[in-house]
Amino acid sequence: MRELNGKAGVITGGASGIGLAMAERFGREGMRLVIADIEAEATDRAVAGLRAKGVEAVGVRTDVGRYAEVEALARAALDAFGRVHLVVNNAGVSITGPTWKMSLDDWRWVFDVNLWGVVHGIKAFVPILIAQGEPGHVVNMASLASFGGTGEHGPYSSSKAACLSISQSLYSELIAANTRIGVSVVCPGLVSTNIHRSWRNRPAGDRPWSDREWNDPQHQANSDAFQGSGVGPDEIADATLDAVLADRFYVFHGDSREVRERFAHSVLSGENPPVHTWGPDLRPAGRT
Ligand SMILES: NC(=O)c1ccc[n+]([C@@H]2O[C@H](COP(=O)([O-])OP(=O)(O)OC[C@H]3O[C@@H](n4cnc5c(N)ncnc54)[C@H](O)[C@@H]3O)[C@@H](O)[C@H]2O)c1
Repeated sequence: MRELNGKAGVITGGASGIGLAMAERFGREGMRLVIADIEAEATDRAVAGLRAKGVEAVGVRTDVGRYAEVEALARAALDAFGRVHLVVNNAGVSITGPTWKMSLDDWRWVFDVNLWGVVHGIKAFVPILIAQGEPGHVVNMASLASFGGTGEHGPYSSSKAACLSISQSLYSELIAANTRIGVSVVCPGLVSTNIHRSWRNRPAGDRPWSDREWNDPQHQANSDAFQGSGVGPDEIADATLDAVLADRFYVFHGDSREVRERFAHSVLSGENPPVHTWGPDLRPAGRT
């Protein structure tokens, strides 16, 4: 998409972190925006903040893990703006801990949001974009973790690997189908957001493997310090805007090349994967 002014975009998970930074960045380009998020109050605050900056925005409380809600989101977006040109499948959650200790609810929750949220967004919106026949763009939020399974981050890494793969498939399909719709996949490293407090949005009744994320002050302090050491979300929003305007698939930032090279090297050479662990409270890397 070369021209964004006056075009309509939908951003899932747009009430916080990277999604909110993208809303502000795309809003500055003159886009009209639908903020879709599971947190109603945060959505209202985000919409009010955008409107205060002169951005035409509406909020739709949406759980991206539920297809009926994403279909309703698509209808609401068309009701609001008549068209949808940009879809940002950004909503995501994270939980850390050893893979073998994760509960099945942990796996299902992370996959419902990070994998099914993307699938639902594609299924509900891409046919609309194709039928419009106008330039459009789909942005899927993956991660640097898409390129290699990260220790203490099994559900997250595997859901993000799937997101990358789906995005690659979609990219080829939309070219083969001769559409005017581009695809980008955003692959950030550590970004300073609220994702380490993802548990705030877990479905009621879920049984997590551990309650340390909300009940252990030391773990929380470590998590706050670790997540807070990441780059600002504005940096990711700027890079994403550039990619949409240039129709570029991969969105990387900072010094992520070294991490990608380490994983690619092990695949190309057949050597064992690099030991790469994530988050606070980690043991020293390597076998002990
Ligand atoms: N922060 C990082 O270090 C980092 C790195 C790589 C990728 N990402 C990805 O960026 C995306 C945005 O995360 P963030 O870091 O800004 O975190 P964040 O917690 O600040 O924002 C995520 C938003 O998603 C919303 N959300 C959660 N579950 C939802 C659901 N079921 N339906 C709709 N909305 C839901 C939350 O309410 C929140 O507003 C995620 O996909 C995440 O995996 C983050």
